[in-house]
Amino acid sequence: GKGEYDHYMLKEIHSQPTALSNAIDGRVVDGEVSFEDLPPGTFADVETVQLVACGTSYHASLFGTHLLRSAGVSADAIRASEYEPVSGPVDERTLVVAVTQSGETADTLDAVRTASDRGARSLAVTNVVGSTAAREADDALYIRAGPEVGVAATKTFSSQAVTLALLSQRLAADLPEATPPADSTAMLEALDDLPNQAESVLAESRASALARELLDARSYFFIGRGLGRSVALEGALKFKEITYEHAEGFASGALKHGPLALVTEESPVFAVYTGGEDGKTTTNATEARSRGAPIVAVGPDDHPLADAADAHLSVPDTHPVWTALLANVQLQLVSYHAAALLDRPIDKPRNLAKSVTVE
Ligand code: M6R
Repeated sequence: GKGEYDHYMLKEIHSQPTALSNAIDGRVVDGEVSFEDLPPGTFADVETVQLVACGTSYHASLFGTHLLRSAGVSADAIRASEYEPVSGPVDERTLVVAVTQSGETADTLDAVRTASDRGARSLAVTNVVGSTAAREADDALYIRAGPEVGVAATKTFSSQAVTLALLSQRLAADLPEATPPADSTAMLEALDDLPNQAESVLAESRASALARELLDARSYFFIGRGLGRSVALEGALKFKEITYEHAEGFASGALKHGPLALVTEESPVFAVYTGGEDGKTTTNATEARSRGAPIVAVGPDDHPLADAADAHLSVPDTHPVWTALLANVQLQLVSYHAAALLDRPIDKPRNLAKSVTVE
């Protein structure tokens, strides 16, 4: 049951320290990624990776694609519903990774079947043991988040992000032409602290008070760059899904090419930064601020954006990959508290189902 929590969503947000520990447990051995059923060399023949997914899992796939590319692995994230028109040439050296919490999403299953028919190899990254995706794919890798009841995906995004980060390191190790980035050791080492850091974000977040302050806005915008972009898109999806308020996520740099026309004092902008590659996000957020928009900086302390913003949701200053993941936890809390204040049916938003089994 929900236990002490008013909603499953809040319970699931708070279970992230445990979910993260489970996703990591036993999978980094002597500084190397190790997956029980996928021994070293499993991916030696892979030339390119296509991550196919929907919704939140698509945002986790954008996150994973970023990590694969920075590990020197050729990779794309493709919305599963768009697979057929956009996949391009596929053969047995293409690894199609179905990223799906439920393992039952029709669009995702259809994309993998299309890819398999064209000769691709497949891997399901899923939460549900024995799901259709797990059974149909050549291999399965479980994110071990435990059951998720709320329609809004929360802990499973975090578990997918960690699992895909580990997978990116394994692929880089298997592929002769891939070059793991110099800081991959630091990224894996920093994983040890991630569950505790998630705990401290949950304990210290100011998201509830902030959600109340911003409740009268007309639109909510979320911006970020690189990994921050995937978090911005996910932040906006979560917000619209459970509050029914208008929310959009953009790449920081895209704001000035159109969306800035919508920015007013009635449209708060959540600017996600990771401590890594965020000078430009600061500039873009400042442009929005000069149009009167309240800016909420979401990232580590001691950063120009945190100083320039009207409000700050603080995230531990760890490896940029995990900073991005923790920024997402802050945004989950913002959405949850805004929806709770608006008295929305948080665990079962209108028109939506936990798993979408129609195309
Ligand atoms: O089970 P899946 O991960 O394949 O589901 C994909 C989407 O339907 C899902 O993430 C959806 O976007 C969530 N309701 C978002 O919170």
